[in-house]
Amino acid sequence: LELTQEEQFQARIDADVRIEPKDWMPDAYRKTLIRQISQHAHSELVGMLPEGNWITRAPSLKRKSILLAKVQDEAGHGLYLYSAAETLGASRDQMLADLHSGKAKYSSIFNYPTLSWADMGCVGWLVDGAAILNQVPLCRTSYGPYARAMVRVCKEESFHQRQGFEIMQTLCEGSPEQKAMAQEGLNRWWWPTLMMFGPKDSESPNTAQSMNWRIKRFTNDELRQKFVDMMVPQAEFLGLTVPDPNLKWNEAKQGYDFGDVDWEEFWNVVKGNGMCNKERLQARVQAHEEGAWVREAALAHAEKRKQREAV
Ligand code: ACO
Repeated sequence: LELTQEEQFQARIDADVRIEPKDWMPDAYRKTLIRQISQHAHSELVGMLPEGNWITRAPSLKRKSILLAKVQDEAGHGLYLYSAAETLGASRDQMLADLHSGKAKYSSIFNYPTLSWADMGCVGWLVDGAAILNQVPLCRTSYGPYARAMVRVCKEESFHQRQGFEIMQTLCEGSPEQKAMAQEGLNRWWWPTLMMFGPKDSESPNTAQSMNWRIKRFTNDELRQKFVDMMVPQAEFLGLTVPDPNLKWNEAKQGYDFGDVDWEEFWNVVKGNGMCNKERLQARVQAHEEGAWVREAALAHAEKRKQREAV
């Protein structure tokens, strides 16, 4: 019995064999990966902005250097991911053009403002915590270059998460005002963080196929549940209250029941109408334009070197 090319491909996926750039793959697999990896890369780049906002206002030199290093890590993650997408034939110029025109998606979470220092704690603790939960399984995603990029990203992401938790812990052990600041941050970040995992499985057009291709290893709802189960004890340890009146331990499922996400808010942010969407895109476009001279200089330098080597 002869297997079709597509059946052979699925057999390799089912046997957990990594797909590499030069291997045959269905067009739809390539397209899905370019979509997910480029959205992921854009999220890393835009993700620098909410925290970049606090670099000049960090409360100590130590906090400032940690935050600076973390924001630089995010830029690095974006670059590995664009490179991974390029191995599939995507053009970096095109991906960036799509980000700048507002055509491409990036994570909804980065369209929320960072109003207090506690937000640096919340972004590290909650947002990076959610990112790790989502990305550790991606170290086993079926496409080789994406999986390998995730290994390093996850190591750095764990450091980011610890530093966020440590900011929260310091605030929670501080003055009543500091503790209140931590609680207020949690109140604003909790629900948007739950939205990071994407729509409910029943409303997610891409999950079933991506699970079949082992691009995704867990569904959106599975990861959201894991996140709640992981975070509630941490919030209790900090002495903070998770802002969900429906949160309740469910002995039978050995996990928490929790309230429904405001999906209208989620889609509104994804469509570009969140609190900071316009500001974020504008900042990226401006950074790109202001970096034009660097790209021109690098090209001119490469050209000169080529000419020198030719003689
Ligand atoms: N913000 C913005 N858009 C989202 C979000 C979100 N939180 N969640 C889902 N979407 C979009 C999807 O991109 C998809 O849009 P598209 O079909 O136009 O491309 C649509 O909503 C429907 O969602 P799904 O069918 O569930 O899409 P998918 O299977 O791609 O799952 C998910 C979404 C879970 C985000 C997946 O793409 C993923 O795991 N990506 C890698 C991780 C990542 O990008 N993390 C970014 C934030 S973490 C960080 O950067 C620090």
